[in-house]
Amino acid sequence: MQRTDAPIGAQQWVPPHPRSIDELKPAAADCHGCELYENATQTVFGRGAPHAKIVFVGEQPGDVEDRHGLPFVGPAGRLLRDAVDDAGIDPAELYITNAVKHFRFELRGGRRIHQNPGPAHITACRPWLVSEFSLLKPKLVVILGATAGKALLGPSFRVTRSRGQLMPWPASAQHPEDFPVAEIQAIATIHPSAVLRADDRETAYRGLVDDLRVAAAAVA
Ligand code: URA
Ligand code: SF4
Repeated sequence: MQRTDAPIGAQQWVPPHPRSIDELKPAAADCHGCELYENATQTVFGRGAPHAKIVFVGEQPGDVEDRHGLPFVGPAGRLLRDAVDDAGIDPAELYITNAVKHFRFELRGGRRIHQNPGPAHITACRPWLVSEFSLLKPKLVVILGATAGKALLGPSFRVTRSRGQLMPWPASAQHPEDFPVAEIQAIATIHPSAVLRADDRETAYRGLVDDLRVAAAAVA
């Protein structure tokens, strides 16, 4: 069924004065800010170092993440870990999360097929992302793919146009006021799932690592 009402959004589930990510996570587990909680197994919140220098933002949990309750633990996560390693980024300095925190899928012949989250899901889920940034205070955000770009920069974001370049953030967002957080830097790159799908996987992987090297240098 196609819904026409805009979702109410996550804000009312976000604790008013959270002191730590550990306080956000159980609150997000109860979120009904959009309809995606209805069919997914659980909320998949971000994880990583509470004082991470770099925050990675992906799209949404996939099938494996939905079942395990942790971001980037499936095939895309394995590829991302390799790329982080090859770029010389210390994994202990990372926090990793998603623009949308429930898995959106379509059932086809008993299989759960990934569906991109829509603009309404991205907007509904943004309060969690904002609250993560306000607690983490990283130096840099790595935007993984189009959905994260739309969430953090605005609907006109295109990966191919912006990848690999450092930019001030949230100043570079279409609506910086959506992010009442301290000014940091951002860099966009392709999503690790796009590397897995690429015809020329090796070139795509090298491109991802090159972008992550820029990220590594920016926080060194
Ligand atoms: N893809 C994402 O964007 N996030 C995950 O957590 C897993 C796959
Ligand atoms: Fe809440 Fe985000 Fe899940 Fe929607 S996707 S129910 S806004 S946590």
